[in-house]
Amino acid sequence: MKLAILAQKFEDLFTTRPEGVASAPGRVNLIGEFTDYNNGFVLPSALEFFNQIAFKTRNDDKVLVYSLQYPGQCDEFSLSEDIVQGDSQWGNYIRAVAFVLKARGKTLTGMDMLIESNVPQGAGLSSSAALEVAVAGAFNKACALGLTLEEIAVIGQQAENDFMHCQCGIMDQLISAKGQQGQALLIDCQDLSSESIQIPTDLTLVIVNSNYPRKLVDSEYNQRRLDCESAAKKMAAATLRDATMETLHQAKAILTENEYKRAHHVISENARVLEATQALKHNDMNALRQLMAASHSSLKHDFEVTVPATDGLVEICQKALGDRGAVRMTGGGFGGAIVCLCRSEDVAKIQSAVTEQYFERFNLQASIFVCKAGGGLQVSPLTDLVDA
Ligand code: GLA
Repeated sequence: MKLAILAQKFEDLFTTRPEGVASAPGRVNLIGEFTDYNNGFVLPSALEFFNQIAFKTRNDDKVLVYSLQYPGQCDEFSLSEDIVQGDSQWGNYIRAVAFVLKARGKTLTGMDMLIESNVPQGAGLSSSAALEVAVAGAFNKACALGLTLEEIAVIGQQAENDFMHCQCGIMDQLISAKGQQGQALLIDCQDLSSESIQIPTDLTLVIVNSNYPRKLVDSEYNQRRLDCESAAKKMAAATLRDATMETLHQAKAILTENEYKRAHHVISENARVLEATQALKHNDMNALRQLMAASHSSLKHDFEVTVPATDGLVEICQKALGDRGAVRMTGGGFGGAIVCLCRSEDVAKIQSAVTEQYFERFNLQASIFVCKAGGGLQVSPLTDLVDA
């Protein structure tokens, strides 16, 4: 939404102008799934879908939040009391960030906020990370906290871990904070260092959301993380980042079948991320296609986070593109979306194959998004809004 329009809607609600707008994007992960919390490598891009928050500090300790996605609803909490979960699921993300900032000893002032988002929800495109990063960005600006982008990302992750009880890694929040136009970011989750990788300009990102109803996602997600941690422990590795195929084979007898399979995925996926980074740098579609196909297969058989609908979508798109595109599931799994990297002239092939085959096979309508890699967190002061 245009910032000036959002500012106007804020004024209609709060009868005062906002001080600024914080805007943070959703993301798509090209490769490196479930490697982040194993201190491994990931290669995501920010998208041009944003969560925007118009904000203004208040003279008291109240946080008052409205969302244009949930008209008529409002969440309100006090910064001087213990922050606990409230009735509003979306409101809890704002509470979560305030909770973490307080726990870190930051001095916060009350805020009025109005949220707008066009990040598709439930598609595995990180609408919640975008919200967390935008909230942290708004508090950072309004309360002059002086946080770096990395710190904002870590605070968003901690909000998810400690308040929302999802033991996610750092990928989504870090790419939402640090994404760059036209680039993917190779992130080393061990030390959060990153390298921008230009996506060749003749390649297009096509995201297809399965619209499969995701269930039990958090509990399955957390269980996978526990499997990885216990596998690493049995292999005497600090994390699976330090394990190799050789140590995995040596430890096979003492690992449960699940531990073995989860670790096999993570170790092989880390290697694929580094290879895919080179392939992207050289615009090597053949290598990208093979690496993304191998990633999907590993997520299906070893990590067991795909569902027939996402497997089917990958199959449909792979077939439509042949050797002209690379395809895999993306994000947290158990439904959600798949990502295709292809030349722009081939986008229509995906559109017609999905339209012709997906509903027929799965009785679900897919949503197709033709995307570009976008920029990360931006916090614009009111002075900029006047002209926006
Ligand atoms: C979710 C989590 C991320 C990451 C992915 C899987 O998006 O939030 O931290 O683990 O799943 O790669």
